[in-house]
Amino acid sequence: MKYLHEAFMQSIYAIGNSDPNPPVGAILVSNKNKIIGSGYTQVYGSHHAEIMAIEEAKKNHGIDSLIGSTLYVTLEPCNHFGKTPPCTTAIKKNQISKVVIASLDQTDKVNGAEELRSSNIDVKLYNSDDFKDELLWTLDAFHYAQKNKKPRVILKWAQTSSGWLAPMSGKSGPISNAFSREAVFRIRKLFNSILVTPGTVLSDRPLLNSRFNGSFSLNLKNENFLLKSLSAFELNYPDEYRKNIKRFIMLPRLDKNWNENDLKEYLNLQASLEGSYFFITDDPQQEKLMTSWGFNCFVSDYSDISGILNYTYKMGAINLMVEAGPSFCKHFIENSVPNLLFIFKSRQEQWGKGRGFFLSFDAAQNNENKIKESGYIKLYNIQLNTDELQVYQKK
Ligand SMILES: NC(=O)c1ccc[n+]([C@@H]2O[C@H](COP(=O)([O-])OP(=O)(O)OC[C@H]3O[C@@H](n4cnc5c(N)ncnc54)[C@H](OP(=O)(O)O)[C@@H]3O)[C@@H](O)[C@H]2O)c1
Repeated sequence: MKYLHEAFMQSIYAIGNSDPNPPVGAILVSNKNKIIGSGYTQVYGSHHAEIMAIEEAKKNHGIDSLIGSTLYVTLEPCNHFGKTPPCTTAIKKNQISKVVIASLDQTDKVNGAEELRSSNIDVKLYNSDDFKDELLWTLDAFHYAQKNKKPRVILKWAQTSSGWLAPMSGKSGPISNAFSREAVFRIRKLFNSILVTPGTVLSDRPLLNSRFNGSFSLNLKNENFLLKSLSAFELNYPDEYRKNIKRFIMLPRLDKNWNENDLKEYLNLQASLEGSYFFITDDPQQEKLMTSWGFNCFVSDYSDISGILNYTYKMGAINLMVEAGPSFCKHFIENSVPNLLFIFKSRQEQWGKGRGFFLSFDAAQNNENKIKESGYIKLYNIQLNTDELQVYQKK
């Protein structure tokens, strides 16, 4: 279990970079019970996690160190030629004698476990329940997206002690504390794509990147795999890996609050950032204008969330973090769209009266009731100094 857990820790570095391949991690342990190699899936077309671990062991400990070793891998090794040769061939060729697998690959063409067994390699396969927590933050999104042809959706918001998500008008400014904001930058690294909704673009002009420089200590207690992953980003995160993040931006309609200049400025800002960006509008005039400037845009009715999610999947979204204002949060939750919720609850009061999901004075209670009624169960409460992060999952 210990080595497989280490393999899962490796796999978080592949999230957002290995697409469309799954983010997998691997650890190679010698017959003297010493870790000799580790690795995670590289960019599409390059090495899988198993090969990274094998190559590292060869380089640092010599080819003989692999004889009789055990490979721990988070997903069943592949047994087919894709962009790279089968991992099972490398396992056999290097005389690895045991392979411990945390979860089976559900795609038909894989069958790596069977192939290894038929070559007299000892294969131990765990039940996915044994690594429920690890799988939730790594491979589950990949399997979900592949099965449902849409990304797994994570909705995130911050609320004041009264439950307000925004002031009655204009930009909300920071609601949560510095610890929560740091956590958000790290959480963004656990997803390969982000979607932002129109009212939020209008008021905040969000950059949607991860402005984390590793200098801030969150001092998280490593109670679960989510927290362990967030802490790991502080110690060792290859920053270049964020280059592949996909930002989906639902634009406000052209009107007196959002004119051609605002649009042009925001398009140029997004184009100057790393990663890819995709614009969505429900305003055909806006689409025409953008096309004339050389920007692509998907036109969709904003109430057609399923059409928008299909589009994001086609463009490569696997796990999609949604950053929305109160209108879209309500719309998403009422339609049971998000698979997971991240709610940052501040103890601070702000604005007197603001906007929750409902315009009422007991917003905090209303938000909680709405979440439960819509079929979400709480997974964890995480204390971030004075704030509390609550994580919910759809039943
Ligand atoms: N607390 C947080 O975590 C957080 C996060 C993001 C933003 N914010 C704050 O939230 C505020 C913006 O909130 P918001 O509710 O106006 O923005 P929003 O949820 O980002 O977008 C809502 C807007 O989208 C349009 N829309 C079109 N179809 C819709 C549909 N089916 N359902 C809902 N909206 C639809 C609406 O325009 P029409 O009314 O013209 O149709 C509506 O004004 C800002 O103050 C921002 O700073 C807070």
